[in-house]
Amino acid sequence: MPDSPLLINDHGAVRVVTVNRPDKLNALNAATLDALHAAFDAAAADEAVRAVVLTGAGPKAFVAGADIAEMAGLTPVQGRDFSQRGQRMMRRVERMPKPVIAMINGFALGGGLELAMCCHLRIAADSAKVGQPEINLGLIPGFGGTQRLARLAGRAAALELCLLGAPIDAARAQQLGIVNRVLPAAELEAETMKLAAQLAAAAPLALRGILDCIVHGSEIGLEEALEFETAQFGLIFSTQDMREGTAAFLERRKPAFHGR
Ligand code: COA
Repeated sequence: MPDSPLLINDHGAVRVVTVNRPDKLNALNAATLDALHAAFDAAAADEAVRAVVLTGAGPKAFVAGADIAEMAGLTPVQGRDFSQRGQRMMRRVERMPKPVIAMINGFALGGGLELAMCCHLRIAADSAKVGQPEINLGLIPGFGGTQRLARLAGRAAALELCLLGAPIDAARAQQLGIVNRVLPAAELEAETMKLAAQLAAAAPLALRGILDCIVHGSEIGLEEALEFETAQFGLIFSTQDMREGTAAFLERRKPAFHGR
C-alpha cells in the first residue's frame, strides 16, 4: 500500500504499527483513523501477532492530535461523524484481545493522548510531552479524552489538562499515572521492544482474560465485575497453557505457551 499513512512491521510475534505522517507530526486525518482501525482489526485476527507496539514516525511526535486542517471546515454533523470515527477506532484499540503498548516518542497531544490512553501500557521518552490542548482551538476533546483522562488520572488532573490546555512533560505525566514508565529517549525503542517481547511470550489466553477483566470490568459495577472475573478464571482452566504453566513451575522449567 504505497499511500498508507501507516508503517507495519513484525518483529517475531510483536507487530509494530507506526503512524507515518512525520511532516504533519503524525496528525490523525480521516484516512489515518481508518487505516489504524483496519490495522488493529488485522492484528486482532492474526494469531501470529501476540503483542502490538504503536508509535509515531520521526523524531518529534507520537501523534500531535487530530488533523486541525481537516477539522477546520467541518459542519456540526461532519464534526459528530469525525468524533464517532475516532472514538470507534480508539475503542477498537482499547478492546484488543492482545496487549498494546503506546511507545510515546514525542508529542502526544489531543487525539494523540486519547489514542495512547486506549493502549494498555504507555512508555514515554523523557522528551515527550502530553496534553489535551483542544481548548486553545476553541474545541473540546472528542475522541474520548474527557472520559478516559478522568478515569485514568482522576477528575482533578483531567480538569487541569483539558481546561488549561498546557502540555505536561513525561515526568509529570508519570506522577499523574498517565504514563507507566519514562525512559531516556535513546533507550525508548529497545526497552519497549523488550517489554513487548515479554508480553509476546506470555500465555495469550491469560493475557486476554486479564485485558477483558480490567478493561471491561472497570466499566461495570463491582459485583458484576467480580462475577465476570470468576467466570474468566474458571474458563482459563480449560486451556493447555494453564496446564503447561503450572506444570512447568512444578517441574522447575520454563513454560512454552501456545495460546491453546
Ligand atoms: N493537525 C494538523 N497539522 C498539524 C498538527 C495537527 N494536530 N500538529 C502539527 N501539524 C503540522 C503543522 O501545521 C506543520 O505543518 P506545515 O509544516 O505544513 O506548516 C507541521 O505539522 C509541523 O508542526 P509545527 O507546528 O511547525 O511544529 P512545532 O515544533 O513548531 O510545534 C507543536 C509542535 C506540537 C507544539 C505544534 O505543532 C502544535 O501545537 N500542534 C497542534 C497540537 C494540537 O492542538 N493538537 C490537538 C488537535 S485537536
